[in-house]
Amino acid sequence: MRSKSLNQPIVLPRSKIVLRNRSVLAALTNKQSREDGTLTQDEIRWLERRAKDGFGIVTTAAAFVHPSGKSWVGELGVHSDDMLPGLEELSERIRRHGAASLVQIFHGGMRAPTDLIGEVPMSSSVNKTEQSSTGYSRSMGEQEIEEAIQWFAIAAQRCSDAGFDGIEIHGAHGYLISQFLGTKTNRREDEWGGSRKARFRFLIEIVRRIKKTVPSNFIIAVRISPSYSSCGITIEDSLDLSRDLIDEGIDILHLSCWDISKKIHDGPDAIPITTEFSRKIGGQIPILTTGGIWDEDDVSEAFLQGADMLGVGRAGIAHPDWPSRVHTGDNTRPPFTRKQLSEADLSPVFIDYMCRWDGFVED
Ligand SMILES: Cc1cc2nc3c(=O)[nH]c(=O)nc-3n(C[C@H](O)[C@H](O)[C@H](O)COP(=O)(O)O)c2cc1C
Repeated sequence: MRSKSLNQPIVLPRSKIVLRNRSVLAALTNKQSREDGTLTQDEIRWLERRAKDGFGIVTTAAAFVHPSGKSWVGELGVHSDDMLPGLEELSERIRRHGAASLVQIFHGGMRAPTDLIGEVPMSSSVNKTEQSSTGYSRSMGEQEIEEAIQWFAIAAQRCSDAGFDGIEIHGAHGYLISQFLGTKTNRREDEWGGSRKARFRFLIEIVRRIKKTVPSNFIIAVRISPSYSSCGITIEDSLDLSRDLIDEGIDILHLSCWDISKKIHDGPDAIPITTEFSRKIGGQIPILTTGGIWDEDDVSEAFLQGADMLGVGRAGIAHPDWPSRVHTGDNTRPPFTRKQLSEADLSPVFIDYMCRWDGFVED
């Protein structure tokens, strides 16, 4: 079998979309949207540059599907048709350079601060959260769960109407979908909690509803955290969930690893997370892995682990042309000067935000 390479195109088995290469700009919050969630020219410019400079997929930042899920200032919105003009412009400016575009659709659940949303945040159960004015989230009623599924589906439809190639459902990092997936944050005793299948149901229903809503050539990706202890999500849960997602029919399974060398457990015989997933479910769905990929060795390692596509966050912030630059060896790591980041089309707002990421911006 020919070994995989970053420059190799890939056909997504469900939507049949052909990606020009296997590099993906992962979702990156950049705080540049307006208070109402509309896109700014700064945000469009930074994403367009990554399309122009060669990424196969350009993903937007996490975008809230409903105001109750907005979790930080400057977050992108896909909750209303008022967002359409900006979204249409963004999709067009990504497409003109030959990259595929995904919007990451998101609800923060218990992590949406009362200060921002004006209410006690919702979750799968009553959970302790500093973001809430009461110190706790409230547990969603069954009718409300139904509505939330619909918010995701309507948002996906809006993204399709706006001309995007697809969406990525944000099921990772402890936000609303993760809160449903995990045993610690989901202690429901109805059809939405308890057994694995019941905990998975919220995400599975979102996938089903979106599939009913959007055209068949619209990409559906799902991002998960393979394990997330504060929600009570284990690797075994995520493998089982991945099999269910394969059965549902999605285009891409995105593993958010933060560090692709991380192992499934501490033992001496432990294997990396992506290796475990590719051994168990590889070949049945394109696996996208992200976390700590900077140079050519990292690229080789990720493909060796069995990934089909590679995502980058920080390397793509610093190097808009990362997909081609990675093969030149001229691929510097942090810290970066404000000037370098400005030349990479980051606005002062985004650069200020990156100062919060330890060691990324030079003092
Ligand atoms: C500034 C910044 C913003 C991020 N925003 C998001 C986001 O909106 N949605 C998401 O799923 N992950 C987000 N992440 C995680 C990245 O997508 C990525 O998984 C992470 O940075 C690890 O990859 P890297 O080592 O290549 O940076 C963010 C990361 C950074 C550094």
